[in-house]
Amino acid sequence: GSAEFPITQAVDGASAIDVSTLTKQSGYTALDYGFVNTASTKSAITYIDGDQGILRYRGYPIEELAQQSSFLEVSYLLIYGELPTPEQLAEFDGEIRRHTLLHEDMRYYFEGVPHTAHPMAVLSGGLQTMSTYYESSLDTAVPEFVKVNTIRLLAKLPVLAAYAHKKSIGQAFLYPDNELGFVENFLRLNFGNKAEKYEMNPVLVDALDKLLILHADHEQNASTSTVRLVGSTGANMFSSVSAGINALSGPLHGGANEAVLSMLAQIRDSGQSVETFVEKVKRKEDGVKLMGFGHRVYKNYDPRARIVKDSAAKVLQELGVNDPLLDLAQELEQIALEDDYFKERKLYPNVDFYTGVIYKAMGFPTRMFTVLFAIGRLPGWIAQWREAREDPQTKIGRPQQLYIGSPERHL
Ligand code: MLT
Repeated sequence: GSAEFPITQAVDGASAIDVSTLTKQSGYTALDYGFVNTASTKSAITYIDGDQGILRYRGYPIEELAQQSSFLEVSYLLIYGELPTPEQLAEFDGEIRRHTLLHEDMRYYFEGVPHTAHPMAVLSGGLQTMSTYYESSLDTAVPEFVKVNTIRLLAKLPVLAAYAHKKSIGQAFLYPDNELGFVENFLRLNFGNKAEKYEMNPVLVDALDKLLILHADHEQNASTSTVRLVGSTGANMFSSVSAGINALSGPLHGGANEAVLSMLAQIRDSGQSVETFVEKVKRKEDGVKLMGFGHRVYKNYDPRARIVKDSAAKVLQELGVNDPLLDLAQELEQIALEDDYFKERKLYPNVDFYTGVIYKAMGFPTRMFTVLFAIGRLPGWIAQWREAREDPQTKIGRPQQLYIGSPERHL
């Protein structure tokens, strides 16, 4: 917030105002260089205490949810505020299964994009294209439409994601198998051609389910704020989520797990030791950066990273994969955690640090990693969009501007 940046700013060349005081008085806006925190919002969905490393969805600690709930239960919790009863869960799950098919003409969309396209671009474009098949139910003021579009999004975005994957590797698309659960179906759509039936492997299903839970919401980050801002204009859920996907695609946001893997591969290929790499990071030599470490809100271990680390080991063991990149990641983490440089700066591994290793072991191409983040984040985006739309006080978003240009001039 602005308290960290007390600045005095001349406005229109006339008088000087202390922006930090202004912010405290109004209580609604915050100034932060680079327009990174232009406004605040209230929300009852996700709670984070970055100093203590706490993350809760609707009050429930992430550790408990990852341990005891499924991704669909967590999605229901985020969207509707309570964990579902067994009957509610069965109905929710059943409705999602009934809506997995895409309109058959969507195949022309996939035919139209080049196979070299980034799957995130194919995903957001595909979602926007898909919304045109539901023109008659886009009115956001009609609760039944919001209800059915919530289900459509949850059911169809994973299918679009799997097709973006298949397109990028030139393989045939499979139709969803609605006998299968959410994660099983997604694994089959992506890897149905593999001899080992991924969708039947409880270790892989469980690991992916957990990863999706860990990514399901994270309060007001760039993509979520984008979804809320776009939604505040009255734009429908498909358009708002599609905008969120574009925000997530950036390397500073969801693209970070791709960057971690390239960093690990670079260390491996260079033949240098992890110590040498860490020294380079500290000296900021050759623009070397430690990816997957540190987080704007966490000044402690990212609670999601702990759970991911555990999953990474299980998945690699299950698949019999011996990935030197995992060893490198573990070594890097250990060295960094013991080094004063990182300790003083409170730089701990974040959620992106180990996810790439798991996705790679499963066989997802690197460019699919951020797409998987998007599938996980979907219920959070939906919940946040709905929360903003249901609040009668929501107005069209309009970040405050502080004019810093020339005072009035004349030709
Ligand atoms: C996220 O989960 O969205 C990322 O950690 C980014 C963030 O929350 O700032």
